[in-house]
Amino acid sequence: MSGRTALVLGGTGMLKGCADELLAQGWQVVLPSRRPPRAGTAARAALGRPGQVPQSRTEADSQAAAEGGRWVRADWARPDELAERVREVLAAPADLLVAWVHPSYREPVLRAVAPLLAPDAPVVEVHDSSGISSRHGLPDPVLPGHPTQQVVLGIVRHGRGTRWLSHEEASVGVLAAVRRAVEGKAPSVHQVGDVDTWAARF
Ligand SMILES: NC(=O)c1ccc[n+]([C@@H]2O[C@H](COP(=O)([O-])OP(=O)(O)OC[C@H]3O[C@@H](n4cnc5c(N)ncnc54)[C@H](OP(=O)(O)O)[C@@H]3O)[C@@H](O)[C@H]2O)c1
Repeated sequence: MSGRTALVLGGTGMLKGCADELLAQGWQVVLPSRRPPRAGTAARAALGRPGQVPQSRTEADSQAAAEGGRWVRADWARPDELAERVREVLAAPADLLVAWVHPSYREPVLRAVAPLLAPDAPVVEVHDSSGISSRHGLPDPVLPGHPTQQVVLGIVRHGRGTRWLSHEEASVGVLAAVRRAVEGKAPSVHQVGDVDTWAARF
């Protein structure tokens, strides 16, 4: 792999649009997850062009590599193995880490991949507001040696109800933080949608 490389943890679900956009901008994107990305543009990058059905995992991998995206099978429950799988596909240290990782795995996974990052690589940590304690507020960045933009995904109010952010809204919000990260802006907290429980704390 060559060019700027982004490691995107949790980038095959709600944040697939974020991974897609990074690919569109010419980034090499490494996507560790338990299952391959599903249909869509990131899936296209990872599994081949529309209408082309990869004949084998090897073929899928080589198509993905040719198009700048590389999916690797990995589980947050085994952080060292995840880091090793990522290391195998990186030609050079990663220039950006985007991490949408469940709080119970966040620290061990981010610490495991830290040695794979360029020394000045920024980090974008994405949090779900419902998982943030109202007593303790937003956790500190896991990798303080890397400038970290924090994103908190909230909810959207409509009428008397609420809904999740759409996948697009979440990806657009995370991409705004990625832009700040890549531009070398000071670490900050980005709120996407409404956040009730802990907003007063930051
Ligand atoms: N505030 C909000 O708006 C908000 C917040 C949370 C959720 N939601 C909604 O709820 C839906 C489901 O949420 P979700 O939390 O499942 O997020 P998601 O972004 O849809 O999927 C989670 C991502 O993390 C990966 N992942 C999960 N467990 C993993 C593991 N053990 N090891 C490696 N990778 C892992 C998944 O890939 P694999 O499963 O293939 O491993 C996927 O890439 C979302 O699609 C969204 O619609 C909304």
